[in-house]
Parts: sequence; structure tokens; C-alpha cells
Amino acid sequence: MRAFLILLLLAASLCLSGAQHQALMDYLEQRLLAIEDRISVWHEQTSRYATELREFKQQMAALTESLEKGREALRTELDTVGTRVDRVEREMDYLETQNPAPPCAETDDKVVEQEVTSVKEKSKAKYAKLSDCKDMVSSIKAMKIVKRMGGPKGMWTKDTVNRSMKVYIFNGTAEDTLYEFASVRELAASADMSHARSIELPFLWSGTGHAIYNGYAYYVKEGKEFQLIKYDLQNGSVADSAVFPAEAQVPVYTLSPETYIDLAADEEGLWALYATKDDERNICLAKMDPDTLDMEDMWDTPCPRENAEAAFVMCGTVYVVYNTKLPSRSRVQCVFDINDMVTSEEAPLLYFPRRYSTHSSLKYNPLEKLIYAWDDGYQILYKLAMKQKPVV
Ligand SMILES: *[C@@H]1O[C@H](CO)[C@@H](O)[C@H](O)[C@H]1NC(C)=O
Ligand SMILES: *[C@@H]1O[C@H](CO)[C@@H](O)[C@H](O)[C@H]1NC(C)=O
Ligand SMILES: *[C@@H]1O[C@H](CO)[C@@H](O)[C@H](O)[C@H]1NC(C)=O
Repeated sequence: MRAFLILLLLAASLCLSGAQHQALMDYLEQRLLAIEDRISVWHEQTSRYATELREFKQQMAALTESLEKGREALRTELDTVGTRVDRVEREMDYLETQNPAPPCAETDDKVVEQEVTSVKEKSKAKYAKLSDCKDMVSSIKAMKIVKRMGGPKGMWTKDTVNRSMKVYIFNGTAEDTLYEFASVRELAASADMSHARSIELPFLWSGTGHAIYNGYAYYVKEGKEFQLIKYDLQNGSVADSAVFPAEAQVPVYTLSPETYIDLAADEEGLWALYATKDDERNICLAKMDPDTLDMEDMWDTPCPRENAEAAFVMCGTVYVVYNTKLPSRSRVQCVFDINDMVTSEEAPLLYFPRRYSTHSSLKYNPLEKLIYAWDDGYQILYKLAMKQKPVV
């Protein structure tokens, strides 16, 4: 630029007089100096900006790196904590099953192996209190992993009316062989189903919503429409059957898609949980007549089907258990009381101990205040603590 200006100057000077020439030269010289100054200032600024930018970039890089490291450390820490919690839970389970700790385990063993005769007196008093039905669940007091037998999905239960030590296993969601063990202890000690009496049912069952009630197996028959079968376990014959009186049914819990009707027994009788296309969002409850298989009464509960895995009924109150698609801890998150004494807000948020997968069934036994749960092939007992329903 400077060379060009000088050339220009030379060219101009050829056609100018001496004085004019000098003035122009001075003027241009000044302009050039000014331009040079500005260029050098500009240079300085750019290089300062460049340095600043570089420093800023370096700082950012360092910051990002340390953030990344922090996040990594946090993640590893969380992982370790998670594994440790898991391990502690499993160790506790193991300890519970190996050497029963005094209060819970004593009750555990008692409930697991009740001698029909020896407990009769005690249970009479208990049952009299239960049939008043003023109780609600307050917490899960203890758990016991009894056995791992069978596939990921299934159901196990005792008779919920006729006090007996016998325990029944419905392995799978579309089978027809029911296994009867003489007692929970015998089930725990058996290597496989060979010690069990196997009962060939006349039809395949569907889902995990069965019940053993007063000497009968109640189950839903696999087929186009949902038929309830009442099977006499003593003489091995179908005592009754009826089409379930609901239309356009959908699976009752979205996390257990095989179960359309979930039969549940409590102190007050036999119930059915189901859902229909009419109100696809929520679970319906029906009171069933165990003799005629008719619906005696019916309620729309406010409990959503979405992310529900199972439910149980206790003292006329439905407790719906939820989980997530990626199994985490099961919890009771919706409660429906037919007498409006317990609401979801009043009921304690019940968390189940972390287990293997989701519960494919939870069957309440009112005689023992136990829940028979099936979780990924594990047969688990949960002991419930009760409290009085709030007085209205
Ligand atoms: C239990 O059911 C599963 C399928 O869910 C099956 O693979 C397994 O063989 C069954 N076990 C017994 C003992 O019937
Ligand atoms: C209860 O079970 C016992 C033994 O299985 C049986 O003898 C009795 O008849 C049953 N009672 C009812 C009401 O089913
Ligand atoms: C089974 O027992 C019931 C009474 O409990 C009776 O009505 C029925 O006829 C019996 N069925 C068979 C096949 O013996």
C-alpha cells in the first residue's frame, strides 16, 4: 500500500509546481503516518484479541475437561453406591432366609408353617378382628424369598378361605398343569416339581390372575372370550364356568400384558380387577359371587393401568402396585377403597424391597396377612403390617 502511494506521489509530482509539490508531499506523508499508526494499533488489538481468545479457549477446554472428569467420577460413584445397595439388599435377603432374625422371622416361620391345629385358637381371634375389616396396610414388615422355581412369570398362593398348609403353583401364563405342594416348607426343600401333586386342568389358563378359594381353583380360560372356570380341587372336576360379564377387555396392568382379569381374595370375599376399552386409562373393580361367578357390584377406580404391574385387595381396598418399564422398585401408588375410608393421600407410599424384575403377581392371603409374590421365577412372601383405617 505504501509503495503504491509513493508511485502515485511520483506520478503526481511530475505535473505539479515545486511549492504545490512540497505541500502535497507533506500532506500525503502525514496521511501515511496516520494510516500506519492506525494499522499498528489495529495489529496490536487483533493480536491482543487473538491472545485473549486463545486464553479463553484454553480456559474453556480446561473447564470442560474438569466437568467431564467430575461427571465421570459422579457416575462411577453412583454405580458403586448402586451396586453396594444391591449387595446389601441381597445380603439381607440371604441373612433373612438363612438365620431368621428374632421378631420378623419368628412370625415368618409361624406363618409359613402354621400347623392347622396348633394355630386354630390364635387364628380364630385374628380372623374375628379381620372380618370387622377396619384395617389398612401400613408397611411391608418383612420379606422372605422362599424359592426359585419355574419361569419368569407365574403365580403362587394358598387357599385364601379354607385354612390349609397346601400351596399351589401356576407356572407360566398359558399352561394347564397346576402343582400342589403339601406346605411352603416342602416347596422350599424341593429341587423341582416332582414332589408336587400335579393337577391337570381341563383348559389352559390365561395370565396370572387366578385364585384358590374355599377348595376351588378359579381361573381365566385362554380363548376368544374370557371365561371364568371354577374347578373343584378335591374331586377334580369343573364345578362351574361363566363368561366374564365385561366387553372389549384390555390387559388390566400394562406391565403384565398377559393378565386381563386378576382375581383377588380378601377378608370380604372374591374380587376381580379388569379393564375395558370404555375407559382404557383406569382399572375397574368387581365384587364376585364365588358360588355363581356373577358380578355383585362394580366400581371404576381412579387407578391408572399405565405402568401398573399388579394389585391386591385387602379389606375392601385395592392397592395398585406400579413399576417402570426398566424394572426398579415396585411401589403402591394408587389406593381405592370401596367405602371411601382410605384415599391415595392417606395411604402410606409403600415401597417393596428392590427385587429382580417386576412382580407378575401379588396375591394377598387374609388368613396370614401375607402377600404371595412371583418375581422373575422367585417365590417371595411379604409380611404386611396393618393399622386402623381412618375413622370417617
Ligand atoms: C415353567 O414355565 C416356563 C415357561 O414360563 C417353562 O419354561 C418351564 O419349563 C416351566 N417349569 C416347570 C417346572 O413346569
Ligand atoms: C377344606 O379343605 C379340607 C382339606 O383339604 C377339606 O377336607 C374340606 O372339605 C375343605 N373345606 C371346604 C369348605 O372346602
Ligand atoms: C364333585 O363334588 C361336588 C360337590 O362338592 C359334586 O356336586 C360333584 O358332582 C362332584 N363331581 C364329581 C365328578 O365327582
